[in-house]
Amino acid sequence: MLYYIQQMTHRCLLTIRAHYEEERNMPYGTVAYTTYLKETLALLEDPGLLLVTAGSAGRANAMTIGWATIGVVWGKHVMTVLVRPSRHTYTLIEQSDSFTVCVPRPDMHPAVEYCGEYSGRDGDKLAACNLTVLPSTRVRAPGIDGCPVIYECRIVHKNDVNPTSLAKDITAYPTGNYHRLYYGEILAVRAVPNAAEILGNA
Ligand SMILES: Cc1cc2nc3c(=O)[nH]c(=O)nc-3n(C[C@H](O)[C@H](O)[C@H](O)COP(=O)(O)O)c2cc1C
Repeated sequence: MLYYIQQMTHRCLLTIRAHYEEERNMPYGTVAYTTYLKETLALLEDPGLLLVTAGSAGRANAMTIGWATIGVVWGKHVMTVLVRPSRHTYTLIEQSDSFTVCVPRPDMHPAVEYCGEYSGRDGDKLAACNLTVLPSTRVRAPGIDGCPVIYECRIVHKNDVNPTSLAKDITAYPTGNYHRLYYGEILAVRAVPNAAEILGNA
């Protein structure tokens, strides 16, 4: 098992490093929350986006997410993410008032796979994937440097999936572990200048 994890880590590092070095330190600008909506939703479905949290100890962790919504609630632009209690991310986000959602570059897709398979409880996933954090402009949770689009979100509400109100055709909870929904007011959306080009090639 340890050997397998080491091999995965090594493969992840090699695949990402070459392209990623070029994209570090790209200047970010601010865009409207709808600018990259279509690209963001497409990547949410495949291969997933990176939800980044940092707990009270400060170390950031990234977890792959495939479920989220973006829209308007309480007159605010809101991104809602769903996190199961079994995730390390759940422990971290419960200690925090913010999160970021980072849209990966195509060459980061192996990292998305890795962050969806391994837990930050067992090691530093960002280091394993040669990803570095980017301080956010409006929230405490950092983003991931080089991601073409980053949503900075302040948690304004949370609630748990209630099994008694869930439609019978939703079969996502055979063992419980009901998601907690975190409603994040989108305080900033940062993007690199060539985000459209990068994501168009995704
Ligand atoms: C494509 C994909 C989408 C996922 N979406 C979610 C999600 O929306 N919510 C969730 O709680 N887990 C989701 N997961 C599972 C977590 O990413 C996975 O359990 C991860 O290892 C948790 O990392 P952590 O323990 O460091 O938080 C997804 C996994 C994959 C591969």
